[in-house]
Amino acid sequence: MNNPYVPYPVRISKTLVETEDKQLKSFWLDFLNPADAKAFDYTPGQFAELSVSGYGEIPIGIASSPTEGDTLLFTVNKVGHVTRKLHNMAEGDIMGVRGPLGNHYPLKDMEGKNVVIVAGGFAVTTLRATMNWLLHPDNRAKYGDITFIYGARTPGLLLYTDEWTEWQKRDDCNIHVTIDREAPGWTGLVGFGVDIVKKVQPKPENSVALICGPPIMIRFTWPVFEGLGWTTDQVVLSLENRMKCGIGICGRCNVGPEYVCKDGPVFTKAQLDKLPAEY
Ligand SMILES: Cc1cc2nc3c(=O)[nH]c(=O)nc-3n(C[C@H](O)[C@H](O)[C@H](O)COP(=O)(O)OP(=O)(O)OC[C@H]3O[C@@H](n4cnc5c(N)ncnc54)[C@H](O)[C@@H]3O)c2cc1C
Ligand code: FES
Repeated sequence: MNNPYVPYPVRISKTLVETEDKQLKSFWLDFLNPADAKAFDYTPGQFAELSVSGYGEIPIGIASSPTEGDTLLFTVNKVGHVTRKLHNMAEGDIMGVRGPLGNHYPLKDMEGKNVVIVAGGFAVTTLRATMNWLLHPDNRAKYGDITFIYGARTPGLLLYTDEWTEWQKRDDCNIHVTIDREAPGWTGLVGFGVDIVKKVQPKPENSVALICGPPIMIRFTWPVFEGLGWTTDQVVLSLENRMKCGIGICGRCNVGPEYVCKDGPVFTKAQLDKLPAEY
């Protein structure tokens, strides 16, 4: 990327309303210039600034994995000015992507280890990217057991259902998808993600956990891992602080000395425990 403020032009190639409340919509984006696709060299856990002309830019986690090809996937919750406009855009529309930004999950350090993923709500996006990376034929043998625990409030709020349904058919990963309360037609697990962690009891030996979700989920989930003997350097979290530049210049995202946009958004719990509780 020559000028880090200039977005790459992309075309929306596909959209999908993901949830029954229509709040979450996925966007598949194709680069207009093939050279830009090459330059956009990313790793699961990173984010990008999505740029909508006349409206502004928003940081959004990259939900695709580079193992899936050049098309980028983002899943966006409709909450305000830019996200509302984005939800009204259609296939064929042109917009911008600036990035990739931030650090990523420690996929290299995770090689040879068991991986436990715990996702709550729509924070599953970059963990979907990670699952696609881990399960890719070029990568699967590099990792030990893979456990994926994903919870949403209702069946209609679960994202990427076609994909985790396919993962459930594989015998090289353990997929646990749960909803908060019984619901008509739902035959899967019921209970919070943390309840499933208590049942599964992931072992800490030679393992790493990636946990993403609302702060309350993380607050309740960490003590369960701690009780099972996990240490703070084995648990990796991703922050979603307010951001502007995304490249460590404006100071909008600071937590203590760390720029969440540049030094993060991915931190171990051990790193976060040393920071002021401003995140
Ligand atoms: C690294 C990172 C990854 C993210 N990944 C995703 C993702 O994959 N999908 C997704 O839908 N969202 C994600 N977000 C959050 C997303 O950036 C905000 O929801 C978005 O910027 C809101 O833009 P807006 O113009 O529509 O809202 P605004 O009109 O600016 O605000 C609308 C409401 O949202 C609140 N808000 C704005 N930004 C944030 C924020 N960062 N955190 C919490 N509340 C906020 C405002 O206070 C206000 O209440 C991510 C944020 C970061 C920093
Ligand atoms: S968003 Fe500007 S420094 Fe992080």
